[in-house]
Amino acid sequence: MSLRPYIVGNWKMHGTRAMLAEARAIDRAGQRHPKVEVALAPPFTLIHATRKEAEQIGVGAQDCHPADGGAHTGDVSAAMLADAGAGFVIVGHSERRNDHGETNELVRSKAESARKVGLGVILCVGESEAERDAGRAEEVVCAQLEASLPMNQGAVEKLSIAYEPVWAIGTGRVPSLEDIEAMHRAIRERLVATYGEEGAEVRILYGGSVKPDNAAEILNVPEVDGALVGGASLTAESFYGIILAASGENAD
Ligand code: PGA
Repeated sequence: MSLRPYIVGNWKMHGTRAMLAEARAIDRAGQRHPKVEVALAPPFTLIHATRKEAEQIGVGAQDCHPADGGAHTGDVSAAMLADAGAGFVIVGHSERRNDHGETNELVRSKAESARKVGLGVILCVGESEAERDAGRAEEVVCAQLEASLPMNQGAVEKLSIAYEPVWAIGTGRVPSLEDIEAMHRAIRERLVATYGEEGAEVRILYGGSVKPDNAAEILNVPEVDGALVGGASLTAESFYGIILAASGENAD
């Protein structure tokens, strides 16, 4: 990892205020390892409280609406997230693409609206199992990327990509380290082709069943600059194992 490692917990639809104790413990873990950039994306309802409880880690959201505001019942704009204390937003997660039919075009407009108000963006891409079995993983992921990368002014700043094979999310299965490396290299090529030199500074995270016991080997793969972690970010104990692996230090 040549860029500062970025370890992001995605709490998905988990967490009530009782979970703030975990957020505080994760924040303390982050403080012990300042070489690692640690962040949490709790549900909307906990963003403000998590921001207030956590001193050092980043706090972000899991989605936003592309419009600045208006008649969109149940939706939340990027500006509202920033107002609640979010510093970044995840867009294009496969659960959003599948559960809500989100297209690449919509994902791009969400990313652009987030950048417009200064939020960092974690843009997710990933192939299905059938696409991987058909030998189309790289083609699918690169097509998603090209159609969903934000292109407005300042888009490349504070942008990260999360490569998350859909079949690896929440399943305990992970691609081979060779396959992860090949995909991250392909993503890097597209980023540089799109953004020029600045594309080399965009962090590419791996996501999908990252756990304390496989984090070190995954994070050591060339072009893996961090991890987007679901299940293992729900307790400070397991998330700490991943932060520690990213720090390159031994348990203290
Ligand atoms: P997982 O989820 O770590 O539980 O596989 C990752 C994600 O969906 O971001």
